[in-house]
Amino acid sequence: MPDAPCFVVTGAAGFIGSNLVGELLRRFPESRIIAIDDFRSGSFANLVEACDRLTHASYNGDFLAADTGTLDWPTLLEDLKPDAVFHLAAITDTTVADERAMIESNVEGFRPILVACVETETPLVYASSAGTYGSPREGDDREPFPETAAGQPNNVYGFSKWLMENAHRSVAEDCLEAGVSEPHVVGLRYFNVFGPGESRKGPMASLAFKLTQQILDGGRPRLFTDGEQARDQVFVMDVVECTLAAASPEATPGVYNCGYGTPTSFNDIADAVRAGLGATAKDSATEYFEMPPEIRAFYQDFTCADLSEATNALGWSPRFEPKKAIADYSAYLATARSR
Ligand SMILES: NC(=O)c1ccc[n+]([C@@H]2O[C@H](COP(=O)([O-])OP(=O)(O)OC[C@H]3O[C@@H](n4cnc5c(N)ncnc54)[C@H](O)[C@@H]3O)[C@@H](O)[C@H]2O)c1
Repeated sequence: MPDAPCFVVTGAAGFIGSNLVGELLRRFPESRIIAIDDFRSGSFANLVEACDRLTHASYNGDFLAADTGTLDWPTLLEDLKPDAVFHLAAITDTTVADERAMIESNVEGFRPILVACVETETPLVYASSAGTYGSPREGDDREPFPETAAGQPNNVYGFSKWLMENAHRSVAEDCLEAGVSEPHVVGLRYFNVFGPGESRKGPMASLAFKLTQQILDGGRPRLFTDGEQARDQVFVMDVVECTLAAASPEATPGVYNCGYGTPTSFNDIADAVRAGLGATAKDSATEYFEMPPEIRAFYQDFTCADLSEATNALGWSPRFEPKKAIADYSAYLATARSR
């Protein structure tokens, strides 16, 4: 990349987007960043805190407070000529039941970005989700999910991400048929992301965050019976690293998993949180409760990323072992609260 690159980041006031902006500024202090967010679930404070945490400096880029679906992307990209667009903006509340709103926002907000990036030959990395898998057969056998196992999402959020991927696949096929090289577009199926910057996500925050807050509030960690549900937990800086690797000229276009490659049971998350807070299983014993039937219908009991494709195509592997990273993160949250 040139010395002073330019990047567009949508969803930049959100959890992962703000960490991505912070890391971009850490790596490329001279870069020009155009952050875009309509603040429906993000906050300026995420961006301020991420820049301070990762660069010990203030955010020095531009900001467009706008819905990605309303912007004139061809003009924006022609004017800016960014080195990459990172599209992370989305309705991220997986319990939203308004199917039309979810699809309009997540899919129609993506299409113009995809088309404009392809037309201007701008590398595009966008956030898909493990939600595209629903509950595949591999989950019954507690096996990692290969990319080919997706397509039966359990909720409209996962379906919206699947539709984004369909739009991407269709553009890639058109290029193949036309005999032109595939555009640099990479979709990343993030699994369960945790780490600094998620404190404003409310009910959508990670389990590690919620259990930590329950103990710090003087309560007990609460889990659905029997706590042996397991999901692929991945630290946010691994996700940022993967997202940046996907924009590199060496990356192979496509849709890939982005997780740690190991399931972590909810009981193990509670143990890691207690370890990080110096709490004992006796004093902060887990309280189990039954999963409400309306949640049961679309609940993923098990997720695990098969990372072989991502490793080959992106030259990326995660570095933060989840149980250790969760313990460190809980300790960090406790310190942040006591300040
Ligand atoms: N956090 C996870 O565990 C996880 C897992 C899988 C996928 N993802 C995906 O990663 C991306 C980032 O997630 P996050 O956890 O940082 O969520 P987040 O809610 O913290 O961030 C999303 C940001 O996008 C903004 N936004 C939403 N719709 C917009 C629109 N139409 N125009 C402009 N801004 C808009 C929100 O205001 C928010 O700041 C999302 O696409 C999400 O679906 C996250």
